[in-house]
Amino acid sequence: MVRARFEQVSYNLAPGETTTRQKMTASAEAHPNIALVKYWGKRDLARNLPAVGSLSVTLADLCTQMTVDFDAGDSDRLIINGQEAPAMLSRVTRCLDLVAGVDRPCATVESQCNFPIGAGLASSASAFAALTVAANAAAETGHEALVLAKIAGAASGSAARSLYGGVVELSAGDDEIDLTQLAEADEWPLQVVVAITAEEEKPLGSGAAMIRSAETSPFYSSWIERQDDDLALARDAVAVKDFVALGEVAEHNCLKMHSVMWSSRPPIVYWNQATLACMESVRLLRENGHHAFFTIDAGPQVKVFSMPDAVDIVEEVLRKTPGVLRMLRTGVGDGARLIPK
Ligand code: PMV
Repeated sequence: MVRARFEQVSYNLAPGETTTRQKMTASAEAHPNIALVKYWGKRDLARNLPAVGSLSVTLADLCTQMTVDFDAGDSDRLIINGQEAPAMLSRVTRCLDLVAGVDRPCATVESQCNFPIGAGLASSASAFAALTVAANAAAETGHEALVLAKIAGAASGSAARSLYGGVVELSAGDDEIDLTQLAEADEWPLQVVVAITAEEEKPLGSGAAMIRSAETSPFYSSWIERQDDDLALARDAVAVKDFVALGEVAEHNCLKMHSVMWSSRPPIVYWNQATLACMESVRLLRENGHHAFFTIDAGPQVKVFSMPDAVDIVEEVLRKTPGVLRMLRTGVGDGARLIPK
């Protein structure tokens, strides 16, 4: 029991003694993941349960490192890239409570992220995946990965998938989620070039946007009804490593999700002109015989998947695409893990 252990730690301290306190601190690292069959919509708002299953690829080089220190201060603190970050603190506190119990000591959480936050690059996925792994080790709670995935998913639906590497499927049951690793990180050398078309934070968070879609889009119910078909196609494509089939279902699913967003009231439009120009570049690449497909999340960045033989031309074409500010290039990565502090 976490509580008993925390109590014992404090009972063991002599008055005024601080040096013998067991160090309840740990660091973890996690990568964002990009969904090819997307999560959009919530089944249960209070528990943040997704209305649909999803399938994603964990990235290798984009990364969040998180240190959790149960230092028994007066309140939890969150520091992101060296700056105090009170806006995200309540979600972090709730996540720590779910890992270590509500009677845990207060914690200082320090996060370092090597890519833009809140800009449609799944920074919350890597953040909450890393947070659960670090908190679990710091509090010695011994939860297994699936339990941590469910806790991370309660904070940010896509974060559950970042506990695992490679290609990951999240199944949305009535009462809880389940996760399956469909391929390990080194099984299929998919390459991803992310075209950054805007650096600022998105105007509307995905949680609020999903609620608006569910309440107002006339396409929402058919989005939900068809999701299992897309998941089956994607799962089959991954099983036989069929890049073209995976690309077809991924682009279809992405455009369907954005159709739900666009048809919400008021409309939710995350794209800019460069987003559209990138989509056109990918279409031209394909017309010229290069295997590549795009996907876009709740933001204006375009993620282009290819095989290693096409990644240089993909990067070159995106670099020349009007409005592309810069690019990130990565392969497929591993799941969340502990790192030395
Ligand atoms: O995990 P959230 O609540 O930020 O939602 C993520 C939603 C999408 O990125 C648009 C799709 C997905 O499956 O990752």
